[in-house]
Amino acid sequence: MPEQSILRFENVTVTFDEIPVLDGISFEMRRGDTCVILGAAGSGKTVLLKTAIGLIKPSAGRVFLFGTDITELDEQELFDLRAKTGVLFQEGALFDSLTIEENVAYPLVNQRAAKRKKREIRELVEESLRFVELAHTLDKFPSELSGGMRRRVGIARAIVTEPPLVLYDSPTAGLDPITANTIVTLIIKERDVKKTTTVLVTQRYQDGHLLANFRYNPRNGQVEPVTGNGHSDTLKTRFLVLRQGRLTFVGDQQQLEASADPYVSKFVKREI
Ligand SMILES: Nc1ncnc2c1ncn2[C@@H]1O[C@H](COP(=O)(O)OP(=O)(O)O)[C@@H](O)[C@H]1O
Ligand SMILES: [Mg+2]
Repeated sequence: MPEQSILRFENVTVTFDEIPVLDGISFEMRRGDTCVILGAAGSGKTVLLKTAIGLIKPSAGRVFLFGTDITELDEQELFDLRAKTGVLFQEGALFDSLTIEENVAYPLVNQRAAKRKKREIRELVEESLRFVELAHTLDKFPSELSGGMRRRVGIARAIVTEPPLVLYDSPTAGLDPITANTIVTLIIKERDVKKTTTVLVTQRYQDGHLLANFRYNPRNGQVEPVTGNGHSDTLKTRFLVLRQGRLTFVGDQQQLEASADPYVSKFVKREI
């Protein structure tokens, strides 16, 4: 039995001022899939994520989120589907005037489907911040934290509703390599502990490589290389490469590394 379809693009085109920014995009993710989207700046990565949650409407094609065609839905109907999708926006996009606690609580407070008590919200926020090891920052403001910490708060906010699907937009951009790896480690932990379907948008192949080859070990709390029957695990991670709004590559890591397309291989060779 195939797993439930979580996200499906059917020949999606998005145009701004008559210029196609996404051009005939098709792919599908099933429950538990990991998808790494690589692409240069301006290739359409952020537009693709925004289209996935209905923030941008396609000019042609269809987008199915949790099996529902969202291209025809109104805002109200979209709201509840979006509540099942966690998003780490580019740069973290925290509210500067809100405390860390208020920032992380934001999706809970705004979730109509689940009316929650104040105490329950506080507990969920604390749990989410503990997950990213920032429980001590509740009363601070974003400006008091480092760039890497702010990114971790963004992750805490994205996952506080325990969404079955999480989209991460360039979570390591602008971070030093060590901090970047800490962020990817958290994404792996979230994926493996909560069994979330994961989309990672990045310009760093290294991020995708980590996602494809490392797994969280709950026994020791470490992220470890996949061993033994790891081959099938590696194959679970799919790589998509965007070039000027088109998908020029869809495949697994081995296929990606073997690609003769110079645009595709540029991503693979740059880092490792
Ligand atoms: N709201 C918008 N209106 C017009 N053009 C846009 C808008 N959002 C993005 N674009 C254009 O779409 C292209 C892809 O943008 P984006 O998805 O942000 O790229 P990236 O891959 O860097 O995330 C860029 O050329 C950008 O200028
Ligand atoms: Mg972007």
